Amino acid sequence: MQEIAKRAEMREKLSPQLVLSGAIAHYLLSGLDELKDQEFDKEGKVYTGALKFLEQFKMVNGGVIPSPQELIHFKKLTHELANLQLYAIVAGWDKKRFLREFGGQYEAPLLHSASFALLISGYEKSLLENFAKIVRGEISYGFGGNVYRNPVINHLASDALMSPASNSIVRDLRDKFPDRQILLELGSGSGNFSKKFLLAYPDVRALVTDINPAVFETAGENLQNAGIEEERYEISVLDMKDEKGLEEIAKRVGDGRLIVHIGYILHEERHLAIDTLRALSNVFRGKDVVFAFSEYYEQDDITDSVPLHFQGLHYMTQDLFKRDEFIMTVSGGEFGFIPHVDGNSDPIESVHNSYINGEGQKVITNSTTYWKLK
Ligand SMILES: C[S@@+](CC[C@H](N)C(=O)[O-])C[C@H]1O[C@@H](n2cnc3c(N)ncnc32)[C@H](O)[C@@H]1O
Repeated sequence: MQEIAKRAEMREKLSPQLVLSGAIAHYLLSGLDELKDQEFDKEGKVYTGALKFLEQFKMVNGGVIPSPQELIHFKKLTHELANLQLYAIVAGWDKKRFLREFGGQYEAPLLHSASFALLISGYEKSLLENFAKIVRGEISYGFGGNVYRNPVINHLASDALMSPASNSIVRDLRDKFPDRQILLELGSGSGNFSKKFLLAYPDVRALVTDINPAVFETAGENLQNAGIEEERYEISVLDMKDEKGLEEIAKRVGDGRLIVHIGYILHEERHLAIDTLRALSNVFRGKDVVFAFSEYYEQDDITDSVPLHFQGLHYMTQDLFKRDEFIMTVSGGEFGFIPHVDGNSDPIESVHNSYINGEGQKVITNSTTYWKLK
């Protein structure tokens, strides 16, 4: 009884950043312990990313790393939150219902972070539990490697996190480019973006693609469950940087007015971004295409808008761009911003997340930019 009271009291005081980052830190510190006195590549991304994460974890926590017991407690709490989020998704609850149902047991900030907890749980059995083995080079992490984040959990968590952004992109596209006839989604994951797009534009068709063959099940079920007629979409496996594969897709598009959406993937590997942009410009030059690229950008400070448990997880597995760097990479190829109709020279951009830095400037951490081929 006393134990439960103590835990309830602890929960009240815990910030989501401490709990969720604490869960990740638990695995990384155990892994580092296992690596003590061993030879391994100290330049590897997983290792350097983990050190960077732990350094920032200590910093945001006032210069101290919580005790191993506390970290285990945070890991358990993260599991609880992940399970609640999963339960809510399966039950079809909206955010309000979720907060109402569990608000008596957990503080609201923790519940608001439950989709991040679910995201972390998708990395547990792959990256986090195997951290030392990956660092020693015994197994590889990544799509096509020995271990990879759990795609089903990842899609569910991403959908929960990305849904407001996807709604605003779809709204933006409808307002600014109402003449589009076909959507090509590259790296669709669960197909949630395509689903929202097809529901919003009853006259549009979609080509839904991902490198992972699981797309047939994940996106297939998602679109079917939304009641979208099968004639309105095609699902296929496609590596977005594969020019030949893109050419096949372009044939299916013909002269249709196309929108290409790539969401939250170009930052995973820099050469993926560069090769994909090149392939897209080779294949679609001269065609009527609007490109929408949605990305998370690396920020200088850890803030509530992109917290450490999110950015820090990326340090180990991804190649986050700074926003300006991303814009330069895209425009360094054959792409140019689509001008505003009112002559405003800023890029057309849906901003999904931003913060004000120490110098009072707005830093965009997550947005969609709209492009055409020059
Ligand atoms: C973070 S998920 C993005 C989900 C979706 N775009 C959204 O906005 O909700 C990234 C997806 O990209 C896929 N992916 C990774 N590399 C790819 C590649 N080279 N070509 C196509 N898809 C890829 C992954 O399988 C995963 O489903």
